[in-house]
Amino acid sequence: MDWGMKNRLSSLIQSDGRCFFLPIDHGYFQGPTRCLERPGETIKPLLPYADALFVTRGVLRNAIDPAKSKPIILRVSGGTSMVGEDLANEGLTTSIREAVRLNVSAVGMSIFVGTKYEKETLLNLAKLVNECEDYGIPVMAVTAVGRELEKRDARYLALCCRIAAELGARVVKTYWCKNFEKVTNGCPVPVVMAGGPKCETELEVMEFVYDGIQNGAVGINLGRNVWQHEYPVAMMRALHAVVHKKATPKEAHEIFKEIKSKTKK
Ligand code: 5RP
Repeated sequence: MDWGMKNRLSSLIQSDGRCFFLPIDHGYFQGPTRCLERPGETIKPLLPYADALFVTRGVLRNAIDPAKSKPIILRVSGGTSMVGEDLANEGLTTSIREAVRLNVSAVGMSIFVGTKYEKETLLNLAKLVNECEDYGIPVMAVTAVGRELEKRDARYLALCCRIAAELGARVVKTYWCKNFEKVTNGCPVPVVMAGGPKCETELEVMEFVYDGIQNGAVGINLGRNVWQHEYPVAMMRALHAVVHKKATPKEAHEIFKEIKSKTKK
């Protein structure tokens, strides 16, 4: 692996082999998502505990201070909206020149395995990998968003992750599911977990993050369950402890409660 590629990957996946990416890219198809109306404000107190931000160029340019940022994973796919015909019909939106100009540590795009746009999104991934490898920029493949999330089982997610890795993704983002080891065992590159829509309780989030890490995930790319929570900093710090400090769900919940009790509303 080239020095540049290694250097970028090591700015994302920390020396303990773990990572906590904070995604704020949701607006690219959801518009002003709840609690992300002003992304720059939302992330301010969370940034110290994040290893990287997953973001589009528009929000990056307009809401993130380049002098006080974290490594950037640039979302480079889109072209659909939640009120449009089909979320799976994404294309590449952002050039490699733009990614270089923005000094990103990685780029990320979605693939839609099992949909009518499977071939197109997979070939887009391959094309992006071809271009990014020339510049030493890792590609993170995002699997199974939108309707595809209904197929949240190990067999389907293992299929998506393996295909993404086969096409050259350096990191794969997927969702936690039961028997998560089947997903990580079949994927030769690091796997990170997204959170999905907000869970009922914070303990639920801590439990699936812990389980996923015990079963081979290198970390999380988790947004709504942090920044849509009533106590986002407490959530962020508790999950940070699970990812980087080997905290159990119970220990993380104690951390959450302690920080919550000290938080002024
Ligand atoms: C959808 C994405 C998000 O980055 C991903 O879903 C993670 O966010 P969350 O934890 O809120 O699901 O790729 O745009």
